[in-house]
Amino acid sequence: MKISINANRCEPSPMRKFHPLAVKVKEDGKKIYHLNIGQPDIPTPAAFYEATRAFDNKTLAYEASPGNPALIDAIRKYYAKLGISLDADDIFITTGGSEALLFTCLSILDPYTEVIIPEPYYPNYTTFVHAAGGVIRALHTTPEEGYRYAFRDRIEKLITKNTRAIMITNPGNPTGVVLSREEMRMIADVAKEHDLFLISDEVYREFCYDDKYGIPSMGRFTDIDDNLVIVDSVSKRFSSCGARVGCVITKNKELQQAILKFCQSRLSVATLDQVGATALYSVDKEFFVQSKAEYKKRRDTVVQGLRDIPGVLVEEPMGAFYVMAQLPVDDADKFQRWLLTAFSDNGETVMFAPGAPFYETPGSGINEVRIAYVLEQKELQRAMELLGKGIAQYRKEQMGL
Ligand SMILES: Cc1ncc(COP(=O)(O)O)c(C=O)c1O
Repeated sequence: MKISINANRCEPSPMRKFHPLAVKVKEDGKKIYHLNIGQPDIPTPAAFYEATRAFDNKTLAYEASPGNPALIDAIRKYYAKLGISLDADDIFITTGGSEALLFTCLSILDPYTEVIIPEPYYPNYTTFVHAAGGVIRALHTTPEEGYRYAFRDRIEKLITKNTRAIMITNPGNPTGVVLSREEMRMIADVAKEHDLFLISDEVYREFCYDDKYGIPSMGRFTDIDDNLVIVDSVSKRFSSCGARVGCVITKNKELQQAILKFCQSRLSVATLDQVGATALYSVDKEFFVQSKAEYKKRRDTVVQGLRDIPGVLVEEPMGAFYVMAQLPVDDADKFQRWLLTAFSDNGETVMFAPGAPFYETPGSGINEVRIAYVLEQKELQRAMELLGKGIAQYRKEQMGL
């Protein structure tokens, strides 16, 4: 028996890599501040639970393969408020943004065809692209440049006859980079001029901490209707990761036909989750105002905490709820293991995601980390204190500095 080449090309999730070790460390009585996973702690709006409780169909049946019509309608109305006009046929409900990405890759990639992705990027992109037999062409960025990637010449240099798509995350995970309108327009132009799909992962759309960005979406550029694929989700927007409801949006009719086949093959997204998700789209906009304000405070706390640690290189992220930072350690992976096994301050330690797996280019991100600021401010302050103490002790004990 043999495991497929495509499966062997996929990597385990770096966010969960240290999970078994962390479980053991916790069993031994140490407290861990988890900054490794983007699991928001903001309470899910009550509307989700009320709607699922009120559901009283006698049989819990499959939903339609492209999605619950009421949910699709709610999503259309949400986009209309952003000034983006969608038909019901343009939207396919998926099991989270994750399935939206997978179905898109399966629909547009053949073996050895390429997707240009700015690195560091969300590591599960590797799985989605590789599952479809594709290859990632990394658009390299650096901490010194604040991980910005919207440079036409650098993008165009990566385009080959095998390129099928440019894939971006805006606002970015893991970097928190948000594109300006001009940068979005330039990338849209490049995709259009080179006849490429533009996969725009916008699951963090509501989390932009400077009003000048508004609520960004490539969907406003109607001249790229045939190129554009928007990936969306209720996970982050409504603090509802467990609902497992997202969608893929495209006006490209051929692509719609392809995606529909994958939707039909898995029959339906969970019926009850879609009922709850439909109700989420009616929550008051005050919910976003409050959660954004909360994350902004947390971002400021983490950035300040990182800036107070000597030798840390960090740029203030403008969106999402992550910050990528370069630490004055030799190897973030080794440092994380050491923090869990050898370090403790009052019985506490801290956990982040080591940076290297967020890069395609070998040797990149070795001393970088991604921090998800999904804890309350006070906890974040303590986590930053632990990180500072850990770095100082590690440098002394492990690096002889
Ligand atoms: C950039 C990005 N895209 C997509 C997803 C998928 O999320 P979900 O499947 O919960 O919608 C995530 C989750 O963390 C993400 O960070």
